[in-house]
Amino acid sequence: DQMEPVTSQATRILVVSNRLPINFSLGDPTKGEPEFVLKPSSGGLVTGLRGCSLPFTWIGWLGFGTGSLPKDAQDRLRAVVQRDYSFIPVFFPDEIASDYYNVYSNQLLWPVFHYQKQNIFAANPKAWAAYQAANKAFAAVVGEQYRPGDLVWVHDYQLCLLPGYLREEHPTMTIGFFLHIPFPSSEVFRTVPQRREILDSLLDANLVGFHAFEFARHFCSSCQRLIMDAETTQNGILSRGRLTTVMTDPIGIDATKFLKLLEQDETKDHISQLLAEFDKKKIIVGVDRVDYTKGLVLKLLAIEQLLKSHPEMREKFVFLQVGVPSRQDVEEYQDLVREVNGLVGRINAEFGALHWMPIRYINRSVDQPYLAALYAVADACLVSSTRDGMNLVALEYVACQEGRYGALVLSEFAGAASSLPGSFIHNPWNIGETAEVLYNALIASEEERRLKHRRNFEIVTRTGTADRWANLFIEELGKAYAASSAILAE
Ligand code: ADP
Ligand code: G6P
Repeated sequence: DQMEPVTSQATRILVVSNRLPINFSLGDPTKGEPEFVLKPSSGGLVTGLRGCSLPFTWIGWLGFGTGSLPKDAQDRLRAVVQRDYSFIPVFFPDEIASDYYNVYSNQLLWPVFHYQKQNIFAANPKAWAAYQAANKAFAAVVGEQYRPGDLVWVHDYQLCLLPGYLREEHPTMTIGFFLHIPFPSSEVFRTVPQRREILDSLLDANLVGFHAFEFARHFCSSCQRLIMDAETTQNGILSRGRLTTVMTDPIGIDATKFLKLLEQDETKDHISQLLAEFDKKKIIVGVDRVDYTKGLVLKLLAIEQLLKSHPEMREKFVFLQVGVPSRQDVEEYQDLVREVNGLVGRINAEFGALHWMPIRYINRSVDQPYLAALYAVADACLVSSTRDGMNLVALEYVACQEGRYGALVLSEFAGAASSLPGSFIHNPWNIGETAEVLYNALIASEEERRLKHRRNFEIVTRTGTADRWANLFIEELGKAYAASSAILAE
């Protein structure tokens, strides 16, 4: 095959992810709403990609409900999304979506990749067929958009089969894949029934990227163990005559956006209100999707432990936890909501007084000015993930702390722990330890907090931004393509 040049005037970047940065719902015309209501979505992948200034065309799914729209409504929705946002939506039946997204992606791949037990019913043939069908629907839309020379950048665990489907149709396409969640040890990855199909497809990409070195290492050893002819080279994996470059490239955020938000009047008003309300109390903040990988239960138990082991702290602090509901059709997530609600109630009932509650729990998505204000007023941010690809909340908190030098109390199991050396690190499974690290963070001297904050702030705002992440990946993708072409030419 004749390889196309990777950079030409016409080169575009096609970014493909399951989630687009907007969610769809049907409008209510009786309330004067438009036919389709599009609202911002959240999650680390969306935050990271939205934070890049690199121009790209974004292809993705708009969520449940879109699959059952009549064809003409889908066409109108596609036109609105292209006109107002320049995104390209992918449509597939809601029934497929349910098995692809809720079951195979979120009851099998998500738990296994985070070292949790997979739901044994999730690996059923119907769910696997739906995962394949949805990935094929994405491949078809990419195929319509693709022009030779374009770079295609596929994102995350929902789209593991996409590199393979694209390669089948386009032998010379430049394909990159980035995984936003951990890649588990091969001992754990091997439990995925369709492990070979997944690895085979990922190896059809020219470049595969991870947030942390260990994730890349686990991926390579999984290939080594499961793919017959796989050979680990200095830069990646060689198998069936293909060279797949493997890289570590931790994602970042658009820190400037947060610095600007802090200058806005709306944010400043929120800050004054919060400070007035929690008059002289220490503020601890937590911001998570309500997901069992975020360690919310362990986090609440650590707050309870802090109240027990340091009674002098009672009424001296408040813990503000924002928990945005997530994946609510999935049973494991429904159970978690009940557990968290129950625990918040129990701890508040036991330690609260009429004029003070230790925990304020906000169970919804908050807008960006309010989020920035919460980060800015907090003396500490508590991240307790039991596993997390990166955790962008940690970076967002650091970006908003130039005035206060607040303490980032960060789980050692979040990818961010490898990139933010100025954090107060804890093992969330050790509740007593977490409570003590949190306590020490709250009473740390300003000098200590300032030194630690400086180290993190430099990384979040300069060396580790979303732009740097994306530019590095795209640059590496060009090299990886050239390297794989050289192998083919041999
Ligand atoms: P994950 O990717 O698992 O969701 P991250 O911490 O990497 O975890 O990213 C979460 C993103 O979602 C962050 O950008 C955060 O600001 C945003 N987010 C989380 N909870 C909320 C919320 N309640 N309201 C608004 N944004 C939220
Ligand atoms: C994590 C995943 C993303 C996902 C996000 C939100 O960041 O890596 O792929 O988009 O969580 O989850 P959701 O299922 O709502 O897209």
